[in-house]
Amino acid sequence: MDTKMTGWGILVALLVATASGAVDAKTMGIEKSAFGKTAEGEAVDLYTLTNGSGMRVGIMTYGGIVVSLEVPDRDGNSADVVLGFDTLDGYLGESPYFGALIGRYGNRIANGRFRLDRKKYKLVQNNGPNTLHGGTKGFDKRVWSAKPIREDGSVGLRLRYTSADGEEGYPGTLKCTVTYRLTEDNGLKIDYLAETDKATPINLTHHSYFNLAGHDAGSILGHEMMIAADTFLPVDDTQIPTGKLRSVADTPFDFREPKAIGVEINADYDQLKFYPGGYDHCHVLRNQDGDLALGARVADPKSGRVMEVYTTEPGVQFYSGNFLDGVAGKGGAVYYERFGFCLESQHYPDSPNQPAFPSTILKPGQQYTSTTVYKFSAE
Ligand code: GLA
Repeated sequence: MDTKMTGWGILVALLVATASGAVDAKTMGIEKSAFGKTAEGEAVDLYTLTNGSGMRVGIMTYGGIVVSLEVPDRDGNSADVVLGFDTLDGYLGESPYFGALIGRYGNRIANGRFRLDRKKYKLVQNNGPNTLHGGTKGFDKRVWSAKPIREDGSVGLRLRYTSADGEEGYPGTLKCTVTYRLTEDNGLKIDYLAETDKATPINLTHHSYFNLAGHDAGSILGHEMMIAADTFLPVDDTQIPTGKLRSVADTPFDFREPKAIGVEINADYDQLKFYPGGYDHCHVLRNQDGDLALGARVADPKSGRVMEVYTTEPGVQFYSGNFLDGVAGKGGAVYYERFGFCLESQHYPDSPNQPAFPSTILKPGQQYTSTTVYKFSAE
C-alpha cells in the first residue's frame, strides 16, 4: 500500500475494495452480490463469507449451494476445494448436486413409495425406480431466503425455505432453517432445523464434492480417508440398502484406519461393481447418540490439507464421484469420475421403508435438528 496514503485515502480504498466485491481474507466479513436469475425470474444472491484465518466460502441462495470454498494448504496457499460452476446457469443445468442442500429426503427411497400412519404416499421417481435427493425439484433447486449473521468467532448465513404440503409427494408443510457458519478456527458448520404440521420423512444433508488438492486437481484416489464406522449398508442393484448391516472388516469398506481412497476401489467385491463402480454407500457411524462426534477425516498428502467431518447424524454416505462424466466446471476445469468425493451426513437411505433403521419421521410439535461441521487444517 502507498505509504503516503492518508487516513481518508485508506478509508476510501477500503470502501472501493468492498464495493467492488473484493474481500480482504485477513478480516472477518460478509459480502453480498447478485448471482443472476432462475428461469422463473427469481433473483439469486451470492454471499461471500471470510473468516480472517485464511478461509473464504461463497454460498448462493439457489439451493443453498456452496459455490466455492477456499482453504489454505500447509504453506498457506489457498485453493478452492469444491467442484462447481462459474455461473448460475451451470447450476440451473444438469448439476450433479454440486455443493447443494439436499431435502426433503437425502438419498434414496425405494420405488418412490412409503407408508406412514396407514396412508400410502407416492413420490416422484427420478432415479430409476427410486426417489433420489427429494425428487425432481428438491431443496437443491429452490431459492432460499437469506440473512447474514455475525457472531463472536464466526460469520454466517441463515437460510430459510418452506416446503409446501404435497411438494414432490411429501406430506406436511415443512419449515426449514439451515445456518451455515464459517468459524475462526476454519470450520464450515451447518445447523439444520425443521418443523412440520403433518408427519413426514426428513433427511437433510449437504452435497459438496471435495478435492482437497483443489477442485481442478484431478483424481481424489490419493486422498487418505478415515471413517469412524465398523459397519456399512450393502445395497441392491438399484442402490437401496438390503436392510443388513455388514461389518467393514476384511472388505474394501474398511476405513477404520486411514487409507488411500484408491487402494481397493477397483477390488473384485460385489458392492463395488454396480454401474459405474466405486464407493457410494452409507457407513454406519460408531457414534449413534446424536452428539457431535468425529465421523470422518480426509487428508491430501500433496497439499497437506485435512478435512474432518463432525456430525450428529448416525450415518455418512461416502460417494467417490463415480457418475462424474466430463462435467465442464469452474475456470475451464473438466470433472471426470473420481475427481471429487462427497461425505453426506445423514440418516440411512430408504429409512421410511425400513422399520429397523433409526426413524426419519418428524411429527408435528417436534423439532428436527442436525449439525455437521467440515473442519479444515493442514499438516
Ligand atoms: C449421492 C448418491 C449417489 C449419487 C450422488 C449424486 O451420493 O448416493 O448415488 O446420486 O448423490 O450424483
